[in-house]
Amino acid sequence: MTQSPPLTRETLIDMMLAYRRTALLRVGLELGVFDALAEHPADSTAVAARLGVRERGTRILLGALAAVGLLVTDGPRFRLPDGADELLVSTAAGYVGAGVKVAASHWEWEALGRLTQAVRFGGPVTEADAEAPGFPFWRDFAEHATFATDAGAAFLADELRPWAQARGSLDVLDIGCGHGLFGFAVAKLLAIGQVWSLDWPEVLPIAGRNAEQAGLTRRAHTIAGDAFQVPLGGPYDVVVLGNLLFQFSERRAAELLARAAAAVKPDGQLVIVGFTTGDAPPERNYGAQLISLLMLLWTADGEAHSTATYEKLLAAQGFDAVEVCAKPGVQHRVIRASRRPQPTFAFTDVSAARARGDSGPDDSGDSPIL
Ligand SMILES: C[S@@+](CC[C@H](N)C(=O)[O-])C[C@H]1O[C@@H](n2cnc3c(N)ncnc32)[C@H](O)[C@@H]1O
Repeated sequence: MTQSPPLTRETLIDMMLAYRRTALLRVGLELGVFDALAEHPADSTAVAARLGVRERGTRILLGALAAVGLLVTDGPRFRLPDGADELLVSTAAGYVGAGVKVAASHWEWEALGRLTQAVRFGGPVTEADAEAPGFPFWRDFAEHATFATDAGAAFLADELRPWAQARGSLDVLDIGCGHGLFGFAVAKLLAIGQVWSLDWPEVLPIAGRNAEQAGLTRRAHTIAGDAFQVPLGGPYDVVVLGNLLFQFSERRAAELLARAAAAVKPDGQLVIVGFTTGDAPPERNYGAQLISLLMLLWTADGEAHSTATYEKLLAAQGFDAVEVCAKPGVQHRVIRASRRPQPTFAFTDVSAARARGDSGPDDSGDSPIL
């Protein structure tokens, strides 16, 4: 049994009110409050003028932002707290503000407001449909989720490095690539590495930009379309499925894995990166539990699958060497699957040959040892 700290009144009240902090951060970023205060402190009238919005709304918003620690007051003027210059001003190198488009997206925000109905119904009750071509959230994810996926990409590269660097080719297919960073991290392991990034057509330009930034322009290719239908090409040394299979039921995940498996070279690797259940209790597996919640809100039958399920599905595709890799501080698992080389035997059916009257090796006098 997992030990947990006792619940307190304070914890519960904090949970009740947490959504207000999220709303304030979203609105502060959306209206450009932190950018407006980046240069120098200002009072609500000046900020309202800079933002082109009403003074009453600005005054109340700035006060609330200060109440939750996102601004600091200096008499009637407001300024940014320490650290905000780097994190919340859109021109700063360490800007994480765009992450709200992923972590607190409009789509999730709306759907969470109807979570009770979604639980009762057992599926989405809003228009958000993560499986529909053109679902706008995936563009935002590709553009802004890298703050949360860099560590996973580095982990993936570390796991594959020794194997990949011993190869004479490194053709990589990244299915449901989004920003493309997982495929790029693998292709970069070898100077001759090439990557094919597959996603819906409107997402691929973002992966293209990232390929350019990663210095891979000439080694990066795209495949646009539905991963369940579009020809995958190949065969590839590595096929990566990053944070994709949880969108689907086990049956559909199996269907997609079968397509992916058919595109892997006999000595290649099929790699699943993402959240898994079953290898840690929910209390210690926040990412997997919360992604399942999101899939309840956005998909017909998606949820995080267990490592055991993946092992079973991979075995069904002939991948009999499966390694589940975990790293402290990284929520994603990297599941590497390959096929053990089959021993090649040359059988000689001596008894059948004798029955036919052929002279067997024993009789020839010049036979090799076997
Ligand atoms: C959660 S994102 C994962 C992105 C990236 N692989 C990662 O792990 O961070 C899922 C991606 O799969 C893409 N996707 C979902 N269903 C797809 C389908 N049927 N065909 C092609 N791409 C799909 C989405 O557009 C999105 O970019």
